[in-house]
Amino acid sequence: MAFEELTSRHAVMWGSAPFENIAHLIEDMHVALVERLSPLAGEHWLDLGCGVGDVAFHAARAGATVTGSDLSPTLVETARRRAAEYGLDLTLEVADCQNLHDADASFDVVSSSVGVIFAPDHERVASELARVCRPGGRIGLTAWRKESGVGAMFAAMAPFMPTPPPGAGSPLQWGHEAYVESVLGGAFDLTIEELDIPQVGEDGREMWTFFRDNFGPSFTLWTSLGADRRTELDTAMEAFFESYRSGDGISVERRYIVVTGVRR
Ligand SMILES: C[S@@+](CC[C@H](N)C(=O)[O-])C[C@H]1O[C@@H](n2cnc3c(N)ncnc32)[C@H](O)[C@@H]1O
Repeated sequence: MAFEELTSRHAVMWGSAPFENIAHLIEDMHVALVERLSPLAGEHWLDLGCGVGDVAFHAARAGATVTGSDLSPTLVETARRRAAEYGLDLTLEVADCQNLHDADASFDVVSSSVGVIFAPDHERVASELARVCRPGGRIGLTAWRKESGVGAMFAAMAPFMPTPPPGAGSPLQWGHEAYVESVLGGAFDLTIEELDIPQVGEDGREMWTFFRDNFGPSFTLWTSLGADRRTELDTAMEAFFESYRSGDGISVERRYIVVTGVRR
């Protein structure tokens, strides 16, 4: 199954809003992932779906020789600007994680923080991870749980979204141990644990509009709708965030798994 057209649309979608405004909402996840991969100075590290660069920056600060790559040229440009601001020396480039140009076994570590899970061809992703990671090298991925806040948010948005093409994988499939074992377990010895990174706020409307305007997929969806459907989406998503209210505050639990693995 080829997903070239969908992937081209994703490249535009992910760059349609300034992800740098919300990357900090998952900073604890970036730190948890990098800690579990214990970067060593001089190691060759590839961060896939690097977004605006945060995981790649952590690895570079630890002394690794880092390449961060992402499907979105706009986000890669932002990552380059941020790296220059921080005085970090690393390679940042545009690449589709389903079709990498890197040589076989060229990295000691391959990471992806809720990045590769969004590519539609899971088989290709798994085979590229196994191909570019050297024997004895490590992988580390994070993936949202379907049964938790992010899964529930995608479900609330689903009635407004176009139907995905037949055979396209869902990012939420990666949030299950058995599924990850089935796609990666043949090439890697895996360890999987669950963590939570709640999203807190005070007002459902503010939380939704901030997210809507800064997260490419929701911004692209919202701008694709007519005025009436936009209002319906806004109403549904404000209600979604308000459903997590307790007293004065809102806290959306967002459970995810951290997958680490050693290449056989
Ligand atoms: C939720 S963001 C996570 C960004 C970053 N890893 C982080 O944790 O801050 C998902 C990222 O995956 C990237 N992405 C989606 N599909 C991709 C693909 N096929 N190849 C490479 N990157 C992809 C998007 O462009 C986006 O930057």
